[in-house]
Amino acid sequence: MRIVVVGKGGREHALIRSLSESRSQPELFCFPGSDAISELAQLVEVADMAELIAWMGANAIDLCLAGEESYLLKDEGLANLCVKNGIPCWGPPKDAAQLEGSKEFAKQFMERHAIPTGAAKVVENAEEAMEVIGGNYPTVLKFDGLAAGKGVAVCPDEASAVEFLDEVFGKKRFGEGSMLVEECLVGPEVSIFAAVSGGESLIFTPARDYKLIGEGDTGANTGGMGAVASRQLLDGKLMERIQKDVIGPTIDGLESDGLGYVGFLYFGLMLTSEGPKVIEYNCRFGDPECQAVMPLVSGDFAEFCLEGARGRLKPELLSFDEGWSVGVILASGGYPASSHSGDVIRGLDKVEGARVYHAGTRKNGDGQWETNGGRVLAVVAGGADRVSAVEKAHAEAAKVDFDGAQRRNDIGRLSF
Ligand code: AMP
Ligand code: GLY
Repeated sequence: MRIVVVGKGGREHALIRSLSESRSQPELFCFPGSDAISELAQLVEVADMAELIAWMGANAIDLCLAGEESYLLKDEGLANLCVKNGIPCWGPPKDAAQLEGSKEFAKQFMERHAIPTGAAKVVENAEEAMEVIGGNYPTVLKFDGLAAGKGVAVCPDEASAVEFLDEVFGKKRFGEGSMLVEECLVGPEVSIFAAVSGGESLIFTPARDYKLIGEGDTGANTGGMGAVASRQLLDGKLMERIQKDVIGPTIDGLESDGLGYVGFLYFGLMLTSEGPKVIEYNCRFGDPECQAVMPLVSGDFAEFCLEGARGRLKPELLSFDEGWSVGVILASGGYPASSHSGDVIRGLDKVEGARVYHAGTRKNGDGQWETNGGRVLAVVAGGADRVSAVEKAHAEAAKVDFDGAQRRNDIGRLSF
């Protein structure tokens, strides 16, 4: 089996590692990939998505696995182009990927299918937004389109709302587009990942990510400073409720709307006092949750994705470890306001009994790993219980260092 993974970050490094450990021993390729990924998969050297599709056709590729969302939403859509060219794709068609690409589309989908979520109104300009907010703070403002994780502002007061409205409608920071004014929900957040195909779904291990830069969940928002994953994160009753109220109606809604969803679907949930509510859908695995979840998955992940891409979900191909997994991110100096590249990474050879997934790294001229971006790498360790996984992940992460490195010591310890 010959598989191309599309993406280049820590999530793709983790997906490729799991594919490489699959029983079916696939031959692996990645576009655009990274130096670290090139140790497990051959990088496909093409300029763009059109060339990639042609390359896959010419190189007898059996499966395209979409890691990041951008290609799914670009031009005709990665999955659409694959299908058109007879290449099975684990990733949704462009219309279905609008669940992530457009907050308005996602909100309408949830309203249409009675999926619990925060109440929201669409606005086209700042005046309309202020009218809808009507002095009720905190409020949540969401730019409608893709905004690299920067399009949502939870505004505690009028000053912060005015500032974000100016970014969106005044400075047009994310380009043209409308906005949602959404009810502010309160509660712990949890990330649920479903593999979806042919109107069926399989839930992977639930996870929680740590989005803020500072310990105790303080400071600026980031792409994620770490994650914890375990079946035991949520009790059975709550999981049943999430399945009944959120996942079931979502999968049924995708079917009845004829969206033909295939691939991972990410449910960002808020566990409110009224029950679980959806704060966002993403049409991909989470990052850094994927790095924590995938070490808990065994079996034939490659075959599972291929069968899924062909429309047959086969849960029997996978099994899930009942224990815990904790991933600790090391970020570069200045992150998240900026990032620092070129700092040599020390101690990688000392890590034992843990996995290292690279995100922003590269090999320098002397063959040393150095930083190449904001989030640099994740050190992931498992354990039968939460405490042992947490202690092991932090002990191993502490062996890795570079100038300016930032790491949260409470990843996995802080429950919700
Ligand atoms: P998103 O870009 O949709 O993932 O949103 C980023 C973050 O904003 C989420 O992880 C939540 O912490 C927060 N958020 C989004 N929607 C809401 C909401 N309705 N109420 C409270 N917080 C929210
Ligand atoms: N961990 C958040 C995300 O992947 O969007």
